[in-house]
Amino acid sequence: MLVPRYSEMNSRGDADLSTSVAGVPLRIPIIAANMSSVCEETMSIALGEMGGLGIIHRMCSVEREAKMVKAVHDAGQQVGFSIGVGSDWRDRMEACRRFASIVCLDVAHGHHRRVVELLAEYFQAYQDCPIVVGQIATAKAAGMFIQGIPEKYHRTVAFKTSIGGGSLCTTRIMTGFGVPTLQAISDIHEAHGHAISIIGDGGIKNSGDIVKSLAAGADAVMLGHLLAGTDEAPGNIIKANDVLYKVYRGSASFGDKALRGEETRNVEGEEALVPYKGSVQRVVSGLLDGVRSGFSYGGASSIHELQEHAEFVEITAHGFAESLPHGK
Ligand code: XMP
Repeated sequence: MLVPRYSEMNSRGDADLSTSVAGVPLRIPIIAANMSSVCEETMSIALGEMGGLGIIHRMCSVEREAKMVKAVHDAGQQVGFSIGVGSDWRDRMEACRRFASIVCLDVAHGHHRRVVELLAEYFQAYQDCPIVVGQIATAKAAGMFIQGIPEKYHRTVAFKTSIGGGSLCTTRIMTGFGVPTLQAISDIHEAHGHAISIIGDGGIKNSGDIVKSLAAGADAVMLGHLLAGTDEAPGNIIKANDVLYKVYRGSASFGDKALRGEETRNVEGEEALVPYKGSVQRVVSGLLDGVRSGFSYGGASSIHELQEHAEFVEITAHGFAESLPHGK
């Protein structure tokens, strides 16, 4: 938990939530996860209008990804797109980059030789395109990239952390590897400060988690589960036992792989029905209300101030139980 601080804020509205990720300015620190059941053009446009950012997923053909990216661009919003380390990464760059503000190198284990090699090629060809490098979970991995990437490009790079924290992830169970998201953010921030932006990604369940991520050093958070049930997320509304749902699929789930026509081995994610939530505008506004309230408890009028003075206290299971609503 964060320890409350002396505050002089007159109103929660005084909290300035603006930020910048890899040099890309955002009015709110919210990014939609580049997943096929979370972020396509409709989500990107809606979130862009609110001051956040959508990153289009790569679980589709190059042409389809480029079409979605262009649609967001044509609607006047900033947008990101995704590439992998596969051979089509340059095709995706060429097709999408002129419409986009940022690219996301979307790799399950980013602390990997292939990522290092790709980045070396990347910075020769695309110095002007900000890039998110994910997933990484340790200060050591961040340090390796910071040392390896020429300093003049640091401002345009962000790390996406952590590994295995996502609500649908089974990576930690399948492989035994992972670092809790808050721990990873804090480790990287403590070791490297603001050398490179950090996006907290995976396991964010409420506005309090957003505040904690920002306080620990993240410049923005990426949301999957929290946005998956909204109107703007891809997919139809499903009715079961009179309750409305939408489908949320992990990128490495059986269902997502099968939809892409990929081999359905090495499944490291699940599929779930998530409650239908209405418009993303409503969901994000509610989250931001909580975040602004958090800034007030932290006596902070900006993300920078929140980070500067953040003090965490470790809690026990009993303390956690006390934190949940428990009135009878
Ligand atoms: P939340 O908790 O917001 O997390 O739903 C979204 C993040 O989860 C990651 N992700 C996966 N991780 N297997 C994994 O281990 C998967 O199939 C998978 N799909 C998504 C991803 O980082 C996303 O932003």
